[in-house]
Amino acid sequence: MSLDLKALVRTIPDYPKPGILFRDITTLIEHPEGFRESVERIAAAHRGMGFTHVAGIEARGFIFGAGVAIALGVGFVPVRKRGKLPGQTIGQNYVLEYGVDTIEIHADVLSNVHKVLLVDDLIATGGTAIAAVNLMRRTGAICDNAAFVIDLPELGGAAKLESEGVRVESLISFE
Ligand code: PRP
Ligand code: ADE
Repeated sequence: MSLDLKALVRTIPDYPKPGILFRDITTLIEHPEGFRESVERIAAAHRGMGFTHVAGIEARGFIFGAGVAIALGVGFVPVRKRGKLPGQTIGQNYVLEYGVDTIEIHADVLSNVHKVLLVDDLIATGGTAIAAVNLMRRTGAICDNAAFVIDLPELGGAAKLESEGVRVESLISFE
């Protein structure tokens, strides 16, 4: 496992708004070894730690989170944008680098017997991930670990998450 994953991420300036450098993972997942290695490296860093579930954040977190759940042999919890889940939900508002939104999980999926690894493609301001961790923790589940393919450290999200007691792993960093 020694691919240059960073070289497989495409950068698109001014998307979705002027001034944003969009780090596009579609070029990474289109590359079979790049995709597999991304998933495997996250899974390898979290094997044998007693996770019962991986939670992935819609939409790009589903791509990597589902793979990590299969690799770890645990269930997958979709953390969805507002109004998409059919059952009773609990939700949490959050602020994005470029907007405001709400994420939800099914109210009955997690409890205090569960330990969850949060997975997403990217952490920027950390607003999404912190909302997701808070959502998991409100169920009584342990959620003290999060993994990202990409970290944007200048936006401070990973540091904020760590200050909430979450151990953060990321594969690539764009300064
Ligand atoms: C992106 C990304 C993370 C989040 C990171 O998702 O996939 O979930 O933003 O930003 P933050 O750390 O500042 O909260 P987005 O909401 O754009 O949704 P998408 O995956 O559906 O494109
Ligand atoms: N989500 C939040 N900020 C982002 C960025 N700069 N590139 C890709 N996804 C993002």
